[in-house]
Amino acid sequence: SIPVPSVQELASLQLEAVPSRYIRDDMESIISTVASDNTLRVPLIDMTKLVDSESQETELQKLHAACKEWGIFQLINHGVSDESLRNMNKQTQEFFDLPLKEKKRWAQKPGSLEGYGQAFVTSEEQKLDWNDMIFLKALPIEDRNLEIWPENPPKFRESLDRYSQDMRQIAVALTRFMAMGLEIETRELCAAYEEGLYQIRMNYYPPCPQPERVTGLTPHVDIPGFALLLDCGDTPGLQVLKDGRWIFVEPLDGAVVVDMGRITEILSNGLYKAPEHRAVVNKSKERRSIVTFCYPDLSFKVGPAMELIKLGSPPLYKTVTVEEYLGCFFNRKPDFPFIDTMKI
Ligand code: SIN
Ligand code: FE2
Repeated sequence: SIPVPSVQELASLQLEAVPSRYIRDDMESIISTVASDNTLRVPLIDMTKLVDSESQETELQKLHAACKEWGIFQLINHGVSDESLRNMNKQTQEFFDLPLKEKKRWAQKPGSLEGYGQAFVTSEEQKLDWNDMIFLKALPIEDRNLEIWPENPPKFRESLDRYSQDMRQIAVALTRFMAMGLEIETRELCAAYEEGLYQIRMNYYPPCPQPERVTGLTPHVDIPGFALLLDCGDTPGLQVLKDGRWIFVEPLDGAVVVDMGRITEILSNGLYKAPEHRAVVNKSKERRSIVTFCYPDLSFKVGPAMELIKLGSPPLYKTVTVEEYLGCFFNRKPDFPFIDTMKI
């Protein structure tokens, strides 16, 4: 991994133009592809309606449709208190507001993604995103690398501990309803998420003098089961590609955005789509987000669910353990389309 400058530091120089490594002339103009009408909205799913037997059937159908047609939705009444979300939000803000030198106490080590820094950079030519981040493994507890868990702000660790358990609670509940929607066995899948891997990436996007020419995060598809995303303010930044157009996911106070990853796509034998998404940045406002990547435990077998194969459609993907799956992903050649290694 090749070290690159902190974007926060670059932004503080008050440049009129961003350095050329951030200019995405390899992509169409970032702004022009955004849908200009307001007719398309990311679906909204209410967890209390999934739990209540009166409304369950209807809400399950909504969830199923959201997973098939969008692969991303807003989840409200998810059972995690506003206080917990607000607290993690505050700790994250305080962390990014620390002087650079202080944050670097928890910097990435060479060759590792974990810790404070930037996304993986493998070549001098690679375009860069307008983003600083801190990436931490949170669950299972043995996976925590406390050397890079910030001790400043003082309540950061305690908050992250609580927050990761809250996200696991949402993940397990959601898994059950997704399995019900797919009409596949729920018990084993929920157990796999009970014991699962939870990895947290906190993103910081400083204001940018040329937002229309850079990416906050390059378009990509997530690889876990799903990601649970908390938008930390009211500045929109996350966009999802829907029928060829980029749609903003508008921040909604108290909601968690659920974004399907490849593991769910594989499990559903392609019925649920892991959507392409990206982050854009703003000229005058900073933005923060907290993303929790949720995986079943390492020994869980990722492959099309048996019940879905029986219905007469052949499996589209191989079956491998989460451990092997992560191995394929992290050992892939830079431009190799990862999902192809899983296709039959
Ligand atoms: C992502 O994790 O892909 C999006 C992050 C964000 O919305 O900031
Ligand atoms: Fe993502």
